[in-house]
Amino acid sequence: MDAVVLVGGFGTRLRPLTLTRPKQMLPLVDRPMIEHVVGRLGAQGVARAVLSLGYRPDAFEAAYPRGRCAGVELFYAVEPEPLDTAGAIAFAARTAGVRDAFVAVNGDVISDFPLADLLGAHRSQGAAATIALTPVDDPSRYGVVRCGPDGRVQAFVEKPPAGRSPSKWINAGMYVLDPSVLDLVPEHRPSSIERETFPALVQRGVLHAVARDGFWIDAGTPAAYLEAQLALSGGGWIHPQAQIDRRAEVRGSVVMQGAVVGPGASVVGSALLPGARVGAGAAVERSMVGFRAEVGADARLCDFSVVGDDSKIPAAAALSNERVPGA
Ligand code: GDD
Ligand code: MG
Repeated sequence: MDAVVLVGGFGTRLRPLTLTRPKQMLPLVDRPMIEHVVGRLGAQGVARAVLSLGYRPDAFEAAYPRGRCAGVELFYAVEPEPLDTAGAIAFAARTAGVRDAFVAVNGDVISDFPLADLLGAHRSQGAAATIALTPVDDPSRYGVVRCGPDGRVQAFVEKPPAGRSPSKWINAGMYVLDPSVLDLVPEHRPSSIERETFPALVQRGVLHAVARDGFWIDAGTPAAYLEAQLALSGGGWIHPQAQIDRRAEVRGSVVMQGAVVGPGASVVGSALLPGARVGAGAAVERSMVGFRAEVGADARLCDFSVVGDDSKIPAAAALSNERVPGA
């Protein structure tokens, strides 16, 4: 079975970390996000992952030059311009010569949703497309779905205004698609699977869904990316080659290779990417410090602040929910 993995977005919500690499090449604990995603697909029987690439495709080709990732064969489909989700899936499937029903996933979703349940429902209901649903408290940043008792989707609304969602069940970003769905997708122009293709399938009564409550994270925002770091590391992890001063406090955080935490510093609920440095007496709370970035002595970072690669936060600076460099 083939899976198209969407990894071509700009990752704007994770800037500045995504200015230098695609979101799915950002590290989640001990490996790039893409390896978690592809590894989970491989463990569930996917033999080939067709990477739908757009933004900075060379990062993937450089990391997996032999065309294998987490034990799964890779096919690189590089789109000539951003084609949005439906355009990107169709371009990748056509380029890779996919002929049978296939899986498509958002490359920033880490979940234990059972693919077998999705495939089983797809086959037994004879739908054109079957999508996975997961429940969330605030559906407004997702695709919200209302279903009938038979699993047929009655409404698909992408990012409805807060308080106007037809249900708490959202599109989990994992689909089984019949190749016939590709006929609905125009070539050579962007089109959105959430805003165009799925609503068209709903009209025809051929979009089905399978709902499961389980581990599910879309790691595309600073808060969710941090949540994924902690969930996948069982609450925290320190790389054996990180240097933590014995007078420092590190709690509920992921500290990656070569990161350094100075005396009297505290790092709580945060992620220090490879080579990040936190100076003496500094405090980093629910924030992320990028590759080789430096937090000066006695500086204070909190509330999902994000420091980009190689950036320097001056001594004693205070940042709350800030990005450095800014947009
Ligand atoms: N190749 C390619 N080209 N990939 C793209 C493009 C494009 O033009 N645009 C986005 N992507 C990729 C992103 O890299 C990501 O892996 C995936 O498509 C989804 O894009 P996001 O930007 O992460 O979308 P979202 O999180 O706002 O919403 C989507 O995911 C939610 C669940 O996580 C939607 O599918 C929602 O309906 C869904 O609920
Ligand atoms: Mg996303």
